Amino acid sequence: MYKVHEEFNSFQRGESTPLAPTWRELAAKDSKPIPKILVEDSSPYQGNEKIPTERYISQDFHRQEVEKVWKRTWQVACREEEIPNVGDHFVYEVAGLSFLVVRSAEKQFKAYWNVCLHRGRRLVDKSGCDAKSFRCGYHAWTWNIDGKLSYYPGEWDFPDVEPEKYNLREVLIDTWGGFIFINPDIKAGPLANHLGSLTKHFENWPLDKRFTLWHVQKTINANWKVALEAFIEGYHVVATHPQIHSSVAEQAAQYDVYDDGDAHFSRSVTPTGVPSKHAKNPSALGAIADVWAVLNALRADEAVTLPPEIVDRASIAEWRRKVMKDMTKADYSKLSDAEMLDSFQYYLFPNFFPWYGEGLPLTYLFRPNADSPDTCFFDIWMLVRSPDNGTPPPAAKLVTLGPDQHFEPVIGAMGNVFDQDDENMPFVQIGMKTWPGDPEGMTISRYQESRIRHYHHVLMKKLNQP
Ligand code: FES
Ligand SMILES: [Fe+2]
Repeated sequence: MYKVHEEFNSFQRGESTPLAPTWRELAAKDSKPIPKILVEDSSPYQGNEKIPTERYISQDFHRQEVEKVWKRTWQVACREEEIPNVGDHFVYEVAGLSFLVVRSAEKQFKAYWNVCLHRGRRLVDKSGCDAKSFRCGYHAWTWNIDGKLSYYPGEWDFPDVEPEKYNLREVLIDTWGGFIFINPDIKAGPLANHLGSLTKHFENWPLDKRFTLWHVQKTINANWKVALEAFIEGYHVVATHPQIHSSVAEQAAQYDVYDDGDAHFSRSVTPTGVPSKHAKNPSALGAIADVWAVLNALRADEAVTLPPEIVDRASIAEWRRKVMKDMTKADYSKLSDAEMLDSFQYYLFPNFFPWYGEGLPLTYLFRPNADSPDTCFFDIWMLVRSPDNGTPPPAAKLVTLGPDQHFEPVIGAMGNVFDQDDENMPFVQIGMKTWPGDPEGMTISRYQESRIRHYHHVLMKKLNQP
């Protein structure tokens, strides 16, 4: 039996249909054992307050976030494989703050405020490779990659400069799952506290054994929370992505929230290969055929013929185990149908979305892109499993997209779904500025949008607001 919270029956969690049971019911019928932590629920009732739109549009609220969240939190800057060699460096910017992450030795990373200590120019403008030093473009002050000041012209004119006191200003740095995290608050607790029991959820899913197949970053004309909230519930699928109804049962998804000391995270688990309640002509085999077509990266039309041995979730999962083994030279034989097919999306406050499972091996990141509530960066990584034996291919280079560019030309068919999400965001930002609704704010559903409520509670606590 799966663990069920005492209060589990006090409100409805998801909706089943004859063709689409809830994810927990599907999981119980899986052809292989599913790790226990994936099926345990954690969805306490969290209240029903409205969410003020001011949190998304106010410059004052944004400033508080910068001071109390972005300057004080552990946050992902990049992946280890994106700076594979000594001297490779990544410029990470958030809310108008700039940081320089560098591989300073084969197995050592350092991160600095990306600011020249002469008169404050941003020291390095772009990520790059193989640097021996960092030279400011304004007056040529130069630092070694280990942060030591190595050169400043006209030394005779700076009698008060003691070079050893002019090391680049370091921030905290640590790694987990192949991701490089930094924290500008040098008095902060360790990354392990920030991650808390999230690491237990990923014990069977080592993200460091994956490599970056692609990494795309898009600038979006909306608040970082507007962008983030577009991906944190399946409720929007009905209107935003009707084309996936045939094989994704969003109303049957499971939503869980977790608070573990300093760690605050949540997850959604969305079944794939079963039709949504909202599908026009729901069909069990049709759902499997559609998933198969998507996994083949083919268009679902008459030209696609489902192999006769694929008839249900168990058989399509088995097919996928074989296909993935051929592709990656890794062993998938012990993974459950759910781990091969479904979407396990985790979210660690404030902005990190690592995904579990082979269903959609993505990672998202959201953050303000300037000192403004109206614009943000949205990063997506596609992380493919590295071969069990052998070296993974080099990481793909980051591709950046402006607000008017689309994902589809860069990442293919999947990009269409992101483009659909993207179309809502600037309009949400506009609508919030003219909010005519309940003066207390937006209405949030109890279960399907519970992760929004959960992280807003955390955010307001960080801002010391009730
Ligand atoms: S501001 Fe960088 S060298 Fe002068
Ligand atoms: Fe979406």
